[in-house]
Amino acid sequence: MSQTRNPVVDEILSLFAERGDSAYGGECVSQRTHALQAAYFAQQAGGSPELVVAALLHDVGHLLHDLPDDAPDHGVDDRHEELAGRWLAARFGPAVVEPARLHVDAKRFLCATETGYYEALSEPSKVSLRLQGGPMSPEEVARFRSSPHVDAAVTLRRCDDSAKVAELEVPGIEDYVPWLERVVSIS
Ligand SMILES: [Fe+2]
Repeated sequence: MSQTRNPVVDEILSLFAERGDSAYGGECVSQRTHALQAAYFAQQAGGSPELVVAALLHDVGHLLHDLPDDAPDHGVDDRHEELAGRWLAARFGPAVVEPARLHVDAKRFLCATETGYYEALSEPSKVSLRLQGGPMSPEEVARFRSSPHVDAAVTLRRCDDSAKVAELEVPGIEDYVPWLERVVSIS
């Protein structure tokens, strides 16, 4: 007998089906492709199931608001990481929520601490960085380093930065159903 799917998993599949084709900012990939490539790279990096799911869902905030894809070009920070954090916290534990919620902070952290990181960012990421507060101050760096989720957040960020490859074939959303079922915290 087949098992019933967790409603949260159905909710996620519906979100990607309905909104996943939208553009990922000014990048060359859709939201769905970006999410799937981020999850794929997290898996390749040896990430835990929670980190793979966090990578898959780190930009879920973009699928939940109705601001235009190019909002940053008009000086608007959609604060999608906070939206994602709240949405994920109602469905998953901290090992999924925190790396996703911190993915913008991780960019600001790496800009402040890693030579060449800023230069390698895509143009849309540089534009949004300005709206997100720019590189972290030394005080913010110290606070960020003290988070128990710093390593996971930085790993997710690198997967995020890499997940903008036109025409890279990766597993589809259905392939992540077992991963989602495994780490979802409500039934
Ligand atoms: Fe992203």
